[in-house]
Amino acid sequence: MSDVKSIAVRAPAKVNLQLGVGGRRADGYHELASVFLTVSLFDRITLTPAEELRVTVGGVRAAGVPADGSNIAARAVDLLAKRSGLHPGVHVHIDKCIPVQGGMAGGSADAAGALVGCNALWNLGIGRADLVELAAELGSDVPFSVLGGAAFGSGRGERLTVLPVGATTHWVFATAGFGLSTPAVFAEVERRRKDAGRPWAADDIPSPRVSRRLVDALAGGDTAALADALSNDLEPVATSMRPELARTLKTGTEAGALAGVLCGSGATIGFLVADRNAARTVAQGLLASGTCASAHVADGPVPGPEPEETITTGESA
Ligand code: C5P
Repeated sequence: MSDVKSIAVRAPAKVNLQLGVGGRRADGYHELASVFLTVSLFDRITLTPAEELRVTVGGVRAAGVPADGSNIAARAVDLLAKRSGLHPGVHVHIDKCIPVQGGMAGGSADAAGALVGCNALWNLGIGRADLVELAAELGSDVPFSVLGGAAFGSGRGERLTVLPVGATTHWVFATAGFGLSTPAVFAEVERRRKDAGRPWAADDIPSPRVSRRLVDALAGGDTAALADALSNDLEPVATSMRPELARTLKTGTEAGALAGVLCGSGATIGFLVADRNAARTVAQGLLASGTCASAHVADGPVPGPEPEETITTGESA
């Protein structure tokens, strides 16, 4: 019996400190101005050599995550194998903790973890910048999920510029008892623009710009100014699609958060708080109110996905 080496990778979720949404391009994507920050909510992806590519999913949020080749982590393994001329014989196990359809790039984190993990498993030695470029073929948020930290994303969110961060930020993430589909939220943005007789095509709307105030607050470690600058153009749309989100936002700020903001296209709400003590108080207030399904305390930024450990067993996967 030969030893089988597994690689485990911890891949973090993200929050958007800013999400500016421009017009729809001819390829169907929207021009974005996105400020991303990784936070300490992690999925764990374990990669073990196997005869064929297969996926299993466990953990507290496994429900509804596809355990087959359609899983974005499987597509990531396949893509990297093709580019490297290898057979994608890997068992991908995802320990799911990041909210599903929560706007926190949970699927993108799994794909990023699979890219970073297979790069190590197969000793490919591909640099982070090249993995980031490859990641864009899998989804708009995957490049940032490979990079981690804090970054500004333009284009459809995949053209990244690293941003400096002056101080750790503290958060509470309130999950909803439901998910929101990203294409559905973007489609609703467009429907509203058309109904209001406003321009909606990328050619007719100036590209959204990064908030200088926000970038300065982030670099200077000024949490109060950062709270003031948080913004997400999808928030009014998501809260009108699901009014219970407005109640969650109100409850979190009343419980002591500095500000609340919709994560990505929802349905999780992120609350920026002063410190860990405030985070515990806000999380308790949110849970007691019954306006969310769960509340998680987290910090950011955290590093992007890294191989955590090598596990050697005598059994094949
Ligand atoms: O790139 P990704 O597959 O994650 O995008 C999922 C969907 O989100 C797209 O099909 C599109 O409907 C929407 N989207 C968009 N503009 C972006 C990113 C995503 O309209 N910049």
